[in-house]
Amino acid sequence: MLTLTGQLLVPDSAESLRLTPGVIFVEGGRIARIQQGTIHPKPDFGGEDCIISPGFVDTHLHLPQFDSIGVDGLELLDWLNTAIFPAEMRWADTDYAAEMSRRVALELLSFGTTGIAAYATSHHAAAQAAINTCAELGLAGHIGQVLMDQHAPAGLLVPASAALGQASTLKPKGRIAPAVTPRFAVSCSETLLKGAGTLAARSGWLVQTHLSETRRECDLVQQLHPGIGSYTDIYDACGLLTPRTIFGHGIWLSDQERALLARKGGVIAHCPTANRFLDAGSMPRAKAVSAGVATCFGSDVGAGPDRSMVRVARAAIDAAKQVGAAVPNAAGLWWQITSGNARTIGLTNTGSLEQARDADLLVIRPTTRWQNSPDPLSTLLYSWDDRWLRATLACGVVAYTA
Ligand code: GUN
Ligand code: ZN
Repeated sequence: MLTLTGQLLVPDSAESLRLTPGVIFVEGGRIARIQQGTIHPKPDFGGEDCIISPGFVDTHLHLPQFDSIGVDGLELLDWLNTAIFPAEMRWADTDYAAEMSRRVALELLSFGTTGIAAYATSHHAAAQAAINTCAELGLAGHIGQVLMDQHAPAGLLVPASAALGQASTLKPKGRIAPAVTPRFAVSCSETLLKGAGTLAARSGWLVQTHLSETRRECDLVQQLHPGIGSYTDIYDACGLLTPRTIFGHGIWLSDQERALLARKGGVIAHCPTANRFLDAGSMPRAKAVSAGVATCFGSDVGAGPDRSMVRVARAAIDAAKQVGAAVPNAAGLWWQITSGNARTIGLTNTGSLEQARDADLLVIRPTTRWQNSPDPLSTLLYSWDDRWLRATLACGVVAYTA
């Protein structure tokens, strides 16, 4: 039995969190019990000056891109060709992919991320190695073999039938499941997209892809897939627009596309740090929300430079201000990067400080006197310092200590 104490970030109203003093008892990987109203005098972790948070969940990131952050000044398609595809090519070496996955998983845990929806590369063995490694290190979530059969270097392309055959044999491990991961409509033929739709229906796995990130990408998609309709229609026509589909970005959508996404239940992973880095455009997230489209947040490393989901949440405030939308409130943002993100990627056993959930927990010791602020959760969000993270528990196991 482990005890953690401090100000607990517990569920408040529907989609927000609040701080309250308390103790969390962890046993068998789960939250065995929560006692509110007191601080434990001799805890294993935490103390009066600490915050205990659910682990952060990152709903859109690329594991092979962690060493390529910051290759600046290029439009998406040029950036992919210049910086990203060469980096992903290195995952042809499965040992390299396994070693990098290990490094990246440890880095994620050191930033407080315990849940992920992540892309590997188009290499089958590397994708399975990433699943195995991330699961062994305690992460929960989904990792996909990237499906791509056109418009990229030959070393990354796998013909549709071979790619689908390989991807369908991916095995889950621990708390990581495979995900159906057609990269985007630029790098997938219609045959591949349709096959991915069939695999998604058959497997029930999460689907992840990119949608409408830059104008140039949108134009190219129309050229490559003529006569089907909008970018969103293309995914829909191929069976890839489902309530289990996480679409990265969704910046340049029409009202009709947002209505279609809302009707079919597709989710947009808003990636504000990546959008800023690639100068992809201003994401009108409030428009998506008011159209009834579910949204979640992703770091989108390596387009996004920040591994911390708190920084991503803060960038979402900046992005909202930039388009003149209402400023998202801090209690809702803390909810989004924990419980909300967990829910959108189907991680129903984690994401929240509630009895019987998996013990994915963060021990945070802020150096600011946030208690005196009129809006403590906003103060914590804006003054966030990764050095405040003292420990990360993944499924009850101590996965990181400062
Ligand atoms: N669109 C297709 N592939 C990618 C990728 O790796 N990163 C980003 N940001 N957009 C993409
Ligand atoms: Zn991405």
